[in-house]
Amino acid sequence: MKIAIINGPNLNLLGKRETDIYGNMSFDNFLDLLKTKYPKIIFSYFQSNVEGELVNEIQRAGFEQDGIILNPAGYTHTSVSIGDAVAAVPAPVVEVHISNVHAREDFRKLSHVSGKSAGSIFGLGLKGYELAVEYLASVSEKEGKG
Ligand code: DQA
Repeated sequence: MKIAIINGPNLNLLGKRETDIYGNMSFDNFLDLLKTKYPKIIFSYFQSNVEGELVNEIQRAGFEQDGIILNPAGYTHTSVSIGDAVAAVPAPVVEVHISNVHAREDFRKLSHVSGKSAGSIFGLGLKGYELAVEYLASVSEKEGKG
């Protein structure tokens, strides 16, 4: 099966950025671990700091891949267009946040993506991406896509 991981702004700085909140591991290192753990899954990875590029990638991946794991980062709380893109594509989307957005500032409690997603995971660190893979793999197995 094919899973697209799409990360939004500032997640290119994981491992260097606010490490007390987001941890010490870079996403590239984490992705290597994920690929080793799930050798049968074909992962594509895209990160952008630009809203429209994220919309383009959701549209592209959403008609091609079996599932999307999406962390829209700060755009979660502001972008109607990213929420619309999630609603527009047939692939199931799992929204992931590394930090517990509900335990932080009030503006982080609003998500334009949650209501359009298959489900959301937040506050479990990078483990959230792994749990999203497990979910998408189980859905794909049920549909016989292996
Ligand atoms: C985040 C939470 C967002 O509120 C924040 O703007 C981010 C990262 C997370 O993964 O915890 O950049 O999406």
